[in-house]
Amino acid sequence: MALPKLLILLLSAALFPWPSPSSGAPLTGPRKEPPPLVIWHGMGDSCCNPLSMGAIKKLVELKIPGIYVLSLEIGKTLIEDMENSFFLNVNHQVSLVCEMLAQNPKLQQGYNAMGFSQGGQFLRAVAQRCPSPPMINLISVGGQHQGVYGLPRCPGESSHICDWLRKTLNVGAYTKGVQERLVQAEYWHDPIKEEIYRNSSIFLADINQERGINETYRKNLMALKNFVMVKFLNDSVVDPVDSEWFGFYRSGQAKETEPLQDTALYTEDRLGLKEMDKAGKLIFLAVEGDHLQFSEQWFCTSLLPFLV
Ligand SMILES: *[C@@H]1O[C@H](CO)[C@@H](O)[C@H](O)[C@H]1NC(C)=O
Ligand SMILES: *[C@@H]1O[C@H](CO)[C@@H](O)[C@H](O)[C@H]1NC(C)=O
Ligand SMILES: *[C@@H]1O[C@H](CO)[C@@H](O)[C@H](O)[C@H]1NC(C)=O
Repeated sequence: MALPKLLILLLSAALFPWPSPSSGAPLTGPRKEPPPLVIWHGMGDSCCNPLSMGAIKKLVELKIPGIYVLSLEIGKTLIEDMENSFFLNVNHQVSLVCEMLAQNPKLQQGYNAMGFSQGGQFLRAVAQRCPSPPMINLISVGGQHQGVYGLPRCPGESSHICDWLRKTLNVGAYTKGVQERLVQAEYWHDPIKEEIYRNSSIFLADINQERGINETYRKNLMALKNFVMVKFLNDSVVDPVDSEWFGFYRSGQAKETEPLQDTALYTEDRLGLKEMDKAGKLIFLAVEGDHLQFSEQWFCTSLLPFLV
């Protein structure tokens, strides 16, 4: 109980700064604007659904007056945006977003990023590939940083798409045609066929340095102030849930998992995560509940402090 209280205090102090008694300076001059926030939605969702991202945007705007919030729309309509979350090549989506961010005058001094579910790993790709404008904090809410080896349940209304998706992934996730056209195949991580994953995954294996070390990725990720990863303790959508904290199945089997800190990616520090961890830049948060199920109070006390 002590921690949430502390966070509320920190948050209210940040939102309503009072003059420090030692300085004695009057409260004059313009108040520093909060950095803008960029949001990337999850699978089967869209930028502006009033029940999901629309509500998050509203809440953030209410709690942090003056903040500019951009909820990314991938495509020209909400339907296209939703369909693209299944069928538009992720590398292409990341390039589109990099272009949008580079061209948005409001973001040029830097921005915070918050990705929901697959939007979490997509925004990490943005951080690694596109350092300008700079991302300040990356907040991954249920993102799958080591991919998935199963989608036991789909969120929301997409269950018919999910049944089909599951079959396709099981049959041929790593064939070229599927890789290029199916978003979830691009972060499909088969721990039993680790070598095929390493060779053929066009998105996740690339950003996770599985085919060699791209020093640019390392440098860019390490430039983040904080990389916050939220794990849902009762998640029934993501397999394995450990992926939300960058852990995964130990290679060669699909039963036992290992935490990030035991993986070669970390011990060899191929992505700078070990150095970031030592510097206190990796923040692991856990919340009770199913995939993306959290209370407004939890969101405000746990995540808003990173946005002010
Ligand atoms: C490393 O990443 C940068 C940024 O995306 C890219 O321009 C470059 O081609 C990559 N280098 C290699 C060797 O893949
Ligand atoms: C993966 O790629 C390496 C290097 O190109 C190759 O030697 C190996 O046979 C490939 N393995 C599989 C399973 O495709
Ligand atoms: C959620 O998971 C946690 C950790 O495994 C467990 O302690 C808790 O009882 C679960 N809560 C529900 C509602 O199932």
